[in-house]
Amino acid sequence: MPDYLGLKLEFVMKHKTKITLVFLQIVAVFFLATSFAQAQDGNAEAGKGLYAVCSGCHGADGMGMEATNSPRLQGQLESYLIRQLQYFKSGIRGSHKDDTYGATMKGMAATLPHDQAIRDVVAYISTL
Ligand code: HEC
Repeated sequence: MPDYLGLKLEFVMKHKTKITLVFLQIVAVFFLATSFAQAQDGNAEAGKGLYAVCSGCHGADGMGMEATNSPRLQGQLESYLIRQLQYFKSGIRGSHKDDTYGATMKGMAATLPHDQAIRDVVAYISTL
């Protein structure tokens, strides 16, 4: 009977550098994939601090305030809020000379330094 185990061991010993490299590649891809997934998600805890300034106009409960012309954010779809914040930040919203309310919000969106901050603040709004 052929020595299967011996043959396998011989194969492993002969190719151990290659096997180690393939294993390390799998581990690396796994870590890259999970860190990418985390970067996609907003962090509500980090967003809480960012929302402090927003609450002055939109309310601590995110229900909006007539007095500041600020709409309700609470209960809104996350994808929509993210998109609107990106629109304000890039000037798609709030740039027309007659868009007074939009211009106010455009200035506020500028305080969110990057997409991750936008996702974080929106993740916090979803908890309200
Ligand atoms: C100075 C008051 C003020 C502050 C502070 C403020 N906003 Fe606004 N926000 C507004 C106004 C006014 C509008 C409505 C703009 C319009 O009518 O087009 C608005 C609109 C929005 C919208 C669009 C909602 C929709 O349904 O289209 C989002 C999202 C938003 N604000 C998020 C935020 C976030 C997040 C912050 C904190 C970083 C913030 N706002 C801070 C005044 C403010």
